[in-house]
Amino acid sequence: MTKDIFFEIHRDLPREGPGRNEYTRKAFRMLPVSDNPRILDVGCGPGGPTLELARLSHGQVVGLDIHQPYLDELTRKIEQAGLSDRVKAVNCSMFEMDFADESFDIIWAEGSIFIIGFERGLNEWRRFLKPNGFLVVHEMTWLRPDPPQEIFDYWKSSYPGISSVSENLERLRGCLYHLIGHFTLPEDAWWLEYYRPLEKRIRQLRVKYVDDSETLVVLDKEQREIDLYRKYHKWYGSVFFVMKKR
Ligand SMILES: C[S@@+](CC[C@H](N)C(=O)[O-])C[C@H]1O[C@@H](n2cnc3c(N)ncnc32)[C@H](O)[C@@H]1O
Repeated sequence: MTKDIFFEIHRDLPREGPGRNEYTRKAFRMLPVSDNPRILDVGCGPGGPTLELARLSHGQVVGLDIHQPYLDELTRKIEQAGLSDRVKAVNCSMFEMDFADESFDIIWAEGSIFIIGFERGLNEWRRFLKPNGFLVVHEMTWLRPDPPQEIFDYWKSSYPGISSVSENLERLRGCLYHLIGHFTLPEDAWWLEYYRPLEKRIRQLRVKYVDDSETLVVLDKEQREIDLYRKYHKWYGSVFFVMKKR
């Protein structure tokens, strides 16, 4: 039930997390130019970054996710864009990837590495990268020390792994990557294609499920995340880390 309403809330939104193509481009352009790279987009959702990476790189891109409706949507977009020869949507968990070692030039993960955990993702995905390959992720991160108790408690229970920028920089060095650069997703990356459409959907579903208290609880929970971002966005955000395998 909760799972069904979760997907009714999120179905056909422009994106499934903060981000915009212009920031995907910004991160991609921090990498040196390479010819026809092979790219893996982990937790690709309906594939905003996947398709942008295909356009930017002219390479081969695998979008990987476990939610088949997102992958179906991505497949439709791949066909519409005439990219079927270069982009594939694969249903596989990031916990069970069995690609050959050193088979990708770039691994990309926008707003999804938290599922496996930042450090574990860095360690486990490293072997799939070719020597001198690149890992690019954006990850929920504290932007200031001493966040107010309300938001500290929220993130400690929602994502206990949330860390500061400097802690993540230390981790990535410990996991044998060089940092090429990092930047925080600006506020518009949260609002334009994610929280605004999501808030509109929540309002519509409140009307549809006005008598369904169980669903209203789920909608309240989704709305709370948005309200907290509105109130506390100076303290946390999603930070792009652009890394090279050592
Ligand atoms: C916050 S969304 C990000 C989607 C996309 N990267 C974007 O920026 O729009 C996280 C995605 O991770 C996917 N996901 C959840 N668990 C996963 C797993 N075990 N393996 C692969 N993908 C997973 C979800 O289905 C969802 O599409």
